[in-house]
Amino acid sequence: MCRVCGGPVRQFFDFGRQPLSDAFLDPDRVDDEYFYRLAVGSCESCGMTQLLDEVARDRMFHEAYPYHSSGSVHMRRHFERTASRLSREHLRGPDPFVVEIGCNDGVMLRALAKEGVRHLGVEPSGGVAELARQQGVRVLTEFFEEATAARIVTEKGPADLVYSANTICHIPYLDSVFRGLDTLLAPDGAFVFEDPYLGDILERTSFDQIYDEHFYFFTLRSVSAAAARFGFEVVDVERLPVHGGELRYTLKRAGRAVPSPAVAALIAEEDRKGIGTPESFAAFAAGVERVRTELTSLLRELRADGKRIVGYGATAKSATVTNFCGIGPESIDWVCDVTPAKHGKLMPGSHIPVRPTEALTHPYPDYAVLFAWNHAEEIMAKERLFRESGGRWIVYVPEVRVL
Ligand code: SAM
Ligand code: TMP
Ligand code: ZN
Repeated sequence: MCRVCGGPVRQFFDFGRQPLSDAFLDPDRVDDEYFYRLAVGSCESCGMTQLLDEVARDRMFHEAYPYHSSGSVHMRRHFERTASRLSREHLRGPDPFVVEIGCNDGVMLRALAKEGVRHLGVEPSGGVAELARQQGVRVLTEFFEEATAARIVTEKGPADLVYSANTICHIPYLDSVFRGLDTLLAPDGAFVFEDPYLGDILERTSFDQIYDEHFYFFTLRSVSAAAARFGFEVVDVERLPVHGGELRYTLKRAGRAVPSPAVAALIAEEDRKGIGTPESFAAFAAGVERVRTELTSLLRELRADGKRIVGYGATAKSATVTNFCGIGPESIDWVCDVTPAKHGKLMPGSHIPVRPTEALTHPYPDYAVLFAWNHAEEIMAKERLFRESGGRWIVYVPEVRVL
């Protein structure tokens, strides 16, 4: 049943039993792993694409949540630019107030905090919330929902802007989020959020965007329909090149602003491309099977040739790829990653060891599977010597290729 409208959800892919994508394991605790069924479908009534099973939120987001937003220089820049734009466009009054849902380590809010803007981050994962505090950011260590919004508005007054990046798609209970926004936002306040775009996922067969934390896969059409149910309206939309392709939506209460022409233009484009039709999902499913076959045969052949293969980026996304494709330490020796909290651990499900990125050079392997493909430019520039020493990158989005 659809989590937004209660309509029937038609499944279009089942990845089977999967571990939690960010549950990196201590090597001595491999028996203690939680699995759930990862299947995805689309609502036949409102068009919202969503997971069929929900993982309890505190299993995923807790004190030890290992994803640090500031791990990428490119993303740090993206959020600095975002902060100045939000400030220019939405924080104009004498003492504006901004709330961020899922502020993580403060990657965006710290820029506004530095400028003295009144702000509050809402971040349930205690470890990253603490990192944000160390950056001068005020944080409430809680899940955002209707009750949180009521408390914030009582204590701090209405918000001129609520912003959220890569978090709204993590929250199944959108009804409570929207009711919270209605409570928290000033009459003309804006809700700006950005999340991976289903249009890009279908076009690039980036099936690794599908994992426990990503509950929804938005399109402009499905977001507009959801917003309308709760008295809101999309008044602007913009494509973002980050994380493999995202949309940034600006919402206001219905009737408060004239939607920009970009909204109608993108709705028309989604219709023209058939994004979210049964045919688009069938083509995607065929693409996923093709990538699995090609990637596993490539790794098998290279291993048979005695090649050394590692992975780059112990991403949440890679949990879906390794577990769905059945890739383990027999094909990939280890995966390197900049995040200290992941070092010395094993990847969920596949149990491939995680090492610091410095491990790459001792000595360079023959191949590195780029699991953090959305950071390709940054990583390939940083690891130029790997390629120059004869190493080759293996990518699988939008198709399996050796670079
Ligand atoms: N905004 C950052 C970015 O774009 O890099 C962080 C994104 S991270 C993938 C998602 C964050 O949302 C996590 O830090 C998680 O703890 C937080 N989160 C999950 N559910 C939430 C909720 N209901 N309310 C607020 N934050 C939530
Ligand atoms: P993400 O794709 O969800 O942003 O995760 C990226 C992962 O890749 C994260 O664990 C950090 C890691 N990473 C590196 O190891 N090196 C890098 O240069 C970048 C940008 C990310
Ligand atoms: Zn629905």
